[in-house]
Amino acid sequence: MNRAARATIDTSALRANLNAAKEASGGARIMAVIKANAYGHGIVPAARALSGADAFAVARMEEAAAIREAGMEQVVILLEGVFHAEQIPQAASLDAELVVHSHEQLEMLEQYSGSHRFRVWLKIDTGMNRLGFPPEDAVELERRLAACAGVAGRPRLMTHLASADLQTDPFTTDQIRRFREATAELKGERSIANSAGVLAWPDSHSDWVRPGIMLYGVSPFEGRSGEGLGLRPVMTLASELIAVKTVPAGGRVGYGGVWTASRDTRIGVAAIGYGDGYTRHLGSGTPVLVRGKTATLAGRISMDLITLNLEEIPDARVGDEVILWGTGLPVENLARKAGTIPYELLCGVTQRVAMRLV
Ligand SMILES: Cc1ncc(COP(=O)(O)O)c(C=O)c1O
Repeated sequence: MNRAARATIDTSALRANLNAAKEASGGARIMAVIKANAYGHGIVPAARALSGADAFAVARMEEAAAIREAGMEQVVILLEGVFHAEQIPQAASLDAELVVHSHEQLEMLEQYSGSHRFRVWLKIDTGMNRLGFPPEDAVELERRLAACAGVAGRPRLMTHLASADLQTDPFTTDQIRRFREATAELKGERSIANSAGVLAWPDSHSDWVRPGIMLYGVSPFEGRSGEGLGLRPVMTLASELIAVKTVPAGGRVGYGGVWTASRDTRIGVAAIGYGDGYTRHLGSGTPVLVRGKTATLAGRISMDLITLNLEEIPDARVGDEVILWGTGLPVENLARKAGTIPYELLCGVTQRVAMRLV
């Protein structure tokens, strides 16, 4: 086996970040968002480590099934509900709670004649203009849902914040106000906050919060690191040096020869590339850690390999660990360099990367 690329998942950091979310949420219940393979961390191990959450939120039926197949009995919420009526029996057999965001979904529940009673979450669109019903329809739709034979109890109520990561953007205050006004006469429990809401918008906490990225130790705010927010990074992505050579002055390294040695330079080759999820949008000069010191990418990222300028680490040898992100090298910084967000880098770690739990 030569899967040199590995993602080490620190389960104690997951638990610590869950506690941080609880403390920041002022007693709200926690719906831990573990969709997209727990943001690339492995849905089942992440869910096990986060078993202290009050519920799990997923985006796909397969994700709910993975939780049940692993024997976990916690509440699971399908954040986008079912996509087709044929999925309702499966959602029932998984005992999943359903978000209802469209008239199609409402009609599916009105026509459902099975014996299961679903807990449902009515999703109200307070300005994101993605999923959800207009605020002015909330009262009527809540009554229609409550009247469905397949619905258990009063529908719960939710909305999603579009700009909570922008800490001074008044749009979030507007969304919270619209949600409050739309639901003022309704009884169901409420949920508004994502991680940025948990950390920066106390008015969004309500009954349930829905943190995702912060559980993985990562900041939802541009320009701030998770560690600066009191979170612990969960994933360390690493590989190892499989070759070290000296490239003479003037030698070009890698595809396209976009990096040229200005003097004789020790170049290390590590076994990781965009085929593992280490995005090719990172360029020469991107830092990695070898022997606790910083080396930099030299040349383009290939599918399976990267080339590193080792001139600052003369003792680096074949077999040395190369850390791409994690403690000491925040994924937030790499995302900025790659012109993306840390969510995308984490979710993009591919199946080829070996997952190790510690
Ligand atoms: C509906 C919903 N709630 C909560 C979250 C969690 O967001 P975050 O990871 O920013 O905390 C997401 C993630 O995209 C989401 O789609």
